[in-house]
Amino acid sequence: MKEIDNAELEKQRDFIQKIRLENHTCNKQPLAFVETYGCAQNENDSERLCGMLSDMGYGFCGTPEKADLVLYNTCAVRENAELRVFGNLGALKHLKRKKPSLLIGVCGCMIQQEHIAEQIKKKYKHVDMIFGTHVVYRFPQLLDEARSENRVIDIEDSEGVIFEGVTSKRDNPPLAKIPIMYGCNNFCTYCIVPYVRGRERSRSAENILNEVREVAALGYREVMLLGQNVNSYGKDLENPLTFATLLREVCKVDGIERIRFMTSHPKDISDELIDAMASEDKICKQLHLPVQCGSDRILKKMNRSYTREKYLDIVRKVREKMPDIVLTSDVIVGFPGETNEDFEETMSILAEVRYDMIFSFIYSKRKGTPAAEMEDCLTDEEKHRNFERMVAFQNEISKEKNDAYFGKCEKVLVEGPSKTNLEFMCGRTDGGKIVNFRGTTELAGQLVDVKITEVKTWSLIGEII
Ligand code: SAH
Ligand code: SF4
Ligand code: F3S
Repeated sequence: MKEIDNAELEKQRDFIQKIRLENHTCNKQPLAFVETYGCAQNENDSERLCGMLSDMGYGFCGTPEKADLVLYNTCAVRENAELRVFGNLGALKHLKRKKPSLLIGVCGCMIQQEHIAEQIKKKYKHVDMIFGTHVVYRFPQLLDEARSENRVIDIEDSEGVIFEGVTSKRDNPPLAKIPIMYGCNNFCTYCIVPYVRGRERSRSAENILNEVREVAALGYREVMLLGQNVNSYGKDLENPLTFATLLREVCKVDGIERIRFMTSHPKDISDELIDAMASEDKICKQLHLPVQCGSDRILKKMNRSYTREKYLDIVRKVREKMPDIVLTSDVIVGFPGETNEDFEETMSILAEVRYDMIFSFIYSKRKGTPAAEMEDCLTDEEKHRNFERMVAFQNEISKEKNDAYFGKCEKVLVEGPSKTNLEFMCGRTDGGKIVNFRGTTELAGQLVDVKITEVKTWSLIGEII
């Protein structure tokens, strides 16, 4: 595994200093607008890019119109994510004409697909910087080059590197997201992630624990440990250790009161992990365990490596040890070759498991993945009809699951003001449910007791007690 070496990091720090000095001599602080698409992995890269920008003396703004630098960190997981980026890039053409000094950068997972990088290179000539997921550490150097009016294109088709030593610009406490591994080895046949993120590689436990201690010292009380499949954490390390062992170590860090993680692949979930979750109070009783589909035939075509029965066994085991656990999932409708009978099996697994919530997607063809070559049998209209039916059915279940919280008292870690009503504060229960309650901003970052007085499909409303 390749960790970026110190000489390279030093070189990048020199570029940071150079740009910082240049920015310092401007009479106005330059502003950056950074927009992130996709999953927590991209959010983490953006936190590091923003950390570097901040070190270079950039400030931040909320719209491209005010910016001197616009950076889109893109996602390739479904077509609609890509279309949004193309739409936004098109709109920037006009802005660049009005303000020629504006720098535009596109990075992230889309760039790791050759045909997309080519398209941006050729059709979006107003883009100054195009760089992939494996060269994020070289951002200061790339920006320096772009600032001297060269178009920069830097894409490495690497197996992936690990990049330490940058201070992330995080959201305010209480929640810090911490990557524990990068990449994916699973090659689910529909998914682009392994192609754009490279092979699985784990950060050392020492680096992870140092970062957890660092955020604890800054006042963060909850950490979310991130990876495409956290259950295979540590297998590639020189001194292998399991994810459960890592979790138990994170539990020992003073100041951190809640620990969550995402995502668990069902094929790799161990008894050791379930035991750690059940026995450690700090580990939140919430598990995101994507099932994707309820039909064995389709699960096999998806290369998910588990059967419906094996999946249900895991759910039984988890609920035996943690009866109140909040379970969530991802589900894909309309995978190539899925019939209406297969879809009914997905409906029945939803009825059997009764998830608290699911993220549901209509299958999106990704160029270069095995599923893109598979025969389809349902029409788009049928897929949409199935999708709508599934969403309605799950909404009923989600509401019924939330009904059980009515009248209960929940410990809520307050995140900040509610987005929809400024008189309300918003936080999460141990199980990760969103709770809104009347309160003031001083409560942010605190653990408070809230009595649930009203129940909605995706959130709870309560009163502080
Ligand atoms: N590593 C995680 C999630 C990765 S992407 C996991 O394995 O669970 C998040 C979700 O996007 C996936 O769980 C899947 O449900 C969905 N997804 C991935 N590729 C897709 C595609 N081509 N079309 C539709 N949904 C997709
Ligand atoms: Fe994609 Fe499967 Fe890897 Fe998740 S486990 S990122 S769905 S290939
Ligand atoms: Fe999207 Fe890349 Fe994440 S494709 S889902 S941002 S790893």
